[in-house]
Amino acid sequence: MNQNNNTFIYRELYNNLKEDILSFKYDSNEKLPSKREMAQNLNVSVNSVKTAYEQLLEEGYIYTLERKGYFIEPLEKLIVEPQTTHTLTTTAPPQEQQYRYSFSHMSTDITQFPVDTWTKLMKQVFKNYSHRLSAIPDLKGPIELRQAIAKLVSYKRGIQCNAEQIVIASGTNVLLKQIMDVMADDSKIAVENPGYFRFRDILHKTNRTTIPIDLDDRGISMSAIKAAAPDLVIVTPSHQFPMGTIMPISRRIDLLNWLTKTNGYVIEDDYDSEFKYNTDNIPSLYSFDKSDRVIYLGTFSKTLMPGLRLSYMILPTSLVEQFEHINNNVIPDFSMLNALTLYLMIKDGHYERYIKKMHHLYEDKRAQLIEQLKQSFESKIKIHDTHAGLHFIVEVETEYSYDDIETRAKCYDIELYTINRFTVAPVSDQTKYKTLIIGFSQLEIEAIPEAVNILKQVLIH
Ligand SMILES: Cc1ncc(COP(=O)(O)O)c(C=O)c1O
Repeated sequence: MNQNNNTFIYRELYNNLKEDILSFKYDSNEKLPSKREMAQNLNVSVNSVKTAYEQLLEEGYIYTLERKGYFIEPLEKLIVEPQTTHTLTTTAPPQEQQYRYSFSHMSTDITQFPVDTWTKLMKQVFKNYSHRLSAIPDLKGPIELRQAIAKLVSYKRGIQCNAEQIVIASGTNVLLKQIMDVMADDSKIAVENPGYFRFRDILHKTNRTTIPIDLDDRGISMSAIKAAAPDLVIVTPSHQFPMGTIMPISRRIDLLNWLTKTNGYVIEDDYDSEFKYNTDNIPSLYSFDKSDRVIYLGTFSKTLMPGLRLSYMILPTSLVEQFEHINNNVIPDFSMLNALTLYLMIKDGHYERYIKKMHHLYEDKRAQLIEQLKQSFESKIKIHDTHAGLHFIVEVETEYSYDDIETRAKCYDIELYTINRFTVAPVSDQTKYKTLIIGFSQLEIEAIPEAVNILKQVLIH
């Protein structure tokens, strides 16, 4: 043994003894040599033996009897059933896919994000809120942020609510699971078709009965809802996802009246309402609700970035107590550091200024992309030009099937999604026009002509 390194000697002695004990080289209750004897036998210091014995004692491999010495703890052999051992099939770690151009609806442009301001505010959080960071976060999120959100939604979305109705979480998926916890197990849930497939997945995993409801030109079909009689409806009224329809007031009133009559609930997923072009903000469904029937979902994934993982819900007053009761012992999963930094960003006006800046940028990108698509595809494209959000729908005349389009997009190194990603059942390939979701947030303005040119090669040539 290397006498020059006490730590090394102790680790080696400890490991050797542990292995000998586990391979039953010692009998149960057999006495180990005293520390001095062992030290002499191995020509090491008594201290090294003492540290090794103490570690084995601590982990329960040996026990000690006063003035008698150290003994081997009786151990059972660990049963290993060959059929239950799983070998992890190691595949190469997935490479982060970097596309040449992205038409994704999910991303945001973060090139203009005020990184220095965010970092400065984060430092302020460390300085002024250290007591909050070193404790378990409040179940519903820091009250300061909830109050700031209550103010924001009041003037932006016409929502009058109390901060106690607001719950912060690390994403709308988490919030949907929390909503499921307060809904009866046998609730029937209506979802838009096409719609947000991640919500459908969660509902499926929580064993809920989901009823896909088709859309008409005003959004989710009321006659289909009435026929299905669900307990909960999930809608995206400000900008139907993905088709883009803005639900008119008549349909909103129809939906709310039906919910009031049936005691049902609706989840209003207001995922990108901050971006409206050439139109005023359309008030939320929640702002029309007089019967406590709307659960509102909001997110900072579109206004700031999806990687922040901060979203919120506004519960109807009737569900707040139940939510708190069910989650009594739950430690929330959002980052308190990010939540408090976001609070400061809103409070000091940086959030509003950033949205305004991004609004102009997205408006430009969108206008130029639409112009370029029209020029390039001419009569072969129909653009559903809803003046909202970070994506729009196009129908393109092409001989390719939906599968072909997806494969070709990959070959041309562009990120592109077709309607098939969002429908419950695959859409027929027999139609002359194929429906695509065109997100524009990641496209740089100067690159739009080339990106559209490649898109044309994918779809037409
Ligand atoms: C339809 C829809 N709802 C909600 C969200 C927001 O999800 P999260 O807040 O979990 O990022 C998105 C984000 O892309 C979305 O597309």
